[in-house]
Amino acid sequence: MAEAGKVTMEKIVSLCQRRGFIFQSSEIYGGLSACWDYGPLGIELKRNVKEAWWRANVQQRDDVVGLDTSILMHPDVWIASGHVKAFADPLVECKVCNLRYRADELTSKVCTSCGGELTEPQMFNLMFKTHSGPIESEDNVVYMRPETAQGMFVNFANVQNTTRKKLPFGIAQIGKSFRNEITTGNFIFRCREFEQMEIEFFVKPGTDEQWFEYWVNQRFNWYINHGIKKESLKLRPHDKEELAHYAKMCSDVNFLFPMGWGELEGIADRGSFDLTQHMEHSGKSLTYFDEETKQTFVPWVIEPSAGVDRSVLAFLCDAYAEEPDKDEIRTVLHLHPAIAPVKVAVLPLSKKEPLAELSRKIYADLRLNWACQYDDAQSIGRRYRRQDEIGTPLCVTIDFQSLEDKQVTIRERDSMAQIRVGISELADAIKDKLKR
Ligand code: GAP
Repeated sequence: MAEAGKVTMEKIVSLCQRRGFIFQSSEIYGGLSACWDYGPLGIELKRNVKEAWWRANVQQRDDVVGLDTSILMHPDVWIASGHVKAFADPLVECKVCNLRYRADELTSKVCTSCGGELTEPQMFNLMFKTHSGPIESEDNVVYMRPETAQGMFVNFANVQNTTRKKLPFGIAQIGKSFRNEITTGNFIFRCREFEQMEIEFFVKPGTDEQWFEYWVNQRFNWYINHGIKKESLKLRPHDKEELAHYAKMCSDVNFLFPMGWGELEGIADRGSFDLTQHMEHSGKSLTYFDEETKQTFVPWVIEPSAGVDRSVLAFLCDAYAEEPDKDEIRTVLHLHPAIAPVKVAVLPLSKKEPLAELSRKIYADLRLNWACQYDDAQSIGRRYRRQDEIGTPLCVTIDFQSLEDKQVTIRERDSMAQIRVGISELADAIKDKLKR
């Protein structure tokens, strides 16, 4: 039984299933390991995370443009990027029960399930392989992309030529990635199908260290600006030995998940590795001509790479609280208004007319601007609880007095404070309260 007040993964999973945030993929068939479906509230939350990221990193910047590239790419892309050769984890197998483990994550020298002897580690490539077209042969092998990054590198010249952007500038993309992970688990923390939000920020050689620092700060603060507590986050610079095959420097933004600290995002200095590799393998130029110095060179790149699903999990875990409310305990998600799936709930005190008609009219007006829910079932106390549990920042209650004085009550999720406002000022009051 989970300890009262403590945030556990068990409680987060239970809330997500109960309220329709996240379901297991193919649940009626027993589920598919490490794949998840986002329900009606989950999709709103996930979209809000992606939109908040896009707003901060593309919409509000002059030096980053967006892109949406295909999941399947020419197989040579993955040879050039080094993924065919080096994107692998060490795999060991129990000789008795055949359970498989990632050797670098094992804390025991024998199988932790049956105590059996383990095989020597073998490198296991994490890319999903399939075939393009009707014939299954080695000639038409394609991979499901394991990162969105390569779509941006191979389009560097297309984007630069069409936008005429000068260095430094970035390309941003949000999309699905696939990894045949050996060990999965911790809910949506490590999946085989997941989404990434990545920026490839191209800079002049020699300016990379200053831009690396800039992006580490930007990205760390983005989580805080969207409501994550500072004490739930920390930066973890990588040691030289653990750097990915392409990276010169890397720092992770780590989050304190219920199972411990885990990587939320990695910010890497990839040097000129990727563009140089693609030039060599494709024979096409991916250089940049600097008008000021009249020099031609291969740009270097700083890459902030975040996981959408891990961010969703971090927002949920950080916002989750169990708090005293009169004689009971309320479960509440203190989500930032920009991230909350529903912004306003409209709650008429009675289903009877003319109160219902007035309430529906208010609901119809508010939903033009905000994601709203209309709930007229059960007691008002239970309805507040339901909205707290899904993180709705504001509830608007319409009572019989409203018919007389043309005023309604706004109830705030966090403080539970209630104020009365005129219906004609309601939209402005909501706009003001959702600002943070
Ligand atoms: N392009 C660089 C890159 O892909 P990464 O550290 O392998 O770097 C970046 O991945 C982010 O993608 C991680 O910080 C994490 O948030 C997310 N991610 C990676 N593998 C994942 C998985 N199996 N399930 C969920 N998210 C994952």
